[in-house]
Amino acid sequence: MHIRPAKVSDARQINALIGTFAEQDKMLFRSLADIYEHLQTFLVAQEDDQVVGCCALEVVWSDLAEIKSLAVAQGHQSKGIGTAFVTAALEKARELGIGKVFALTMEPGFFKRLGFVEVPRESLPMKVWRDCARCPKQQSCDEVAVLRSPA
Ligand SMILES: CC(C)(COP(=O)(O)OP(=O)(O)OC[C@H]1O[C@@H](n2cnc3c(N)ncnc32)[C@H](O)[C@@H]1OP(=O)(O)O)[C@@H](O)C(=O)NCCC(=O)NCCS
Repeated sequence: MHIRPAKVSDARQINALIGTFAEQDKMLFRSLADIYEHLQTFLVAQEDDQVVGCCALEVVWSDLAEIKSLAVAQGHQSKGIGTAFVTAALEKARELGIGKVFALTMEPGFFKRLGFVEVPRESLPMKVWRDCARCPKQQSCDEVAVLRSPA
C-alpha cells in the first residue's frame, strides 16, 4: 500500500469509495464532477491496482484548511491508513504555511487520538458551512468539529 496524490484515473474509484460510506450516512457524498474539480486536493492509498482509501485537504481561508472525504475501504481499516492520511494532510498544511486544520466528522474519537480537540462548530468561519447547503441533514447535523495545529 502506498499513499500518493490522486490522478484523474482514480476519480471513479474515489467516487465509489465515498459513495459507499455516504450511503451509510457516515460522510458527505461527492459527485464525480466535484471530485474532478477538487482532484488536486486528494491523496489516495493504492494497493495493487485498487484505490483503498482517500483523503482531501482543502484550503478554506488564510490560516485554515479542512480535512475532507477521509475514507478507508472496509477490508483495509485498522492498518494505519487513516492515520497516514491525516499525517500526510497535516504535513501538506505545514508546507502551505497553514496554522490550523479542522475536520467535520462523525468519528471525533479517531481525530482526538491524533491530537485534534473538539471545538464549537460556531467557532469556525461561515465559509466552512458552504457544504451544508447540499447536505440532506442540514437541520439535524450530527457532525463534530475537531481542530489542531499542523505543527
Ligand atoms: C475513520 C477511518 C478513516 C479510520 O481509518 P483507519 O485506516 O481504520 O484508521 P487507522 O488504522 O489509522 O486507525 C484505526 C484506529 O483508530 C481507532 N478508531 C477508529 N475510529 C475511531 C473512533 N471513532 N474513535 C476512537 N478511535 C477510533 C481504531 O480503533 C483503531 O485503533 P487501533 O489502531 O488501536 O486498533 C475509517 O474507519 C473510515 O473510513 N470510516 C468510514 C468513513 C468515515 O467515517 N470517515 C470519517 C472521517 S470524516
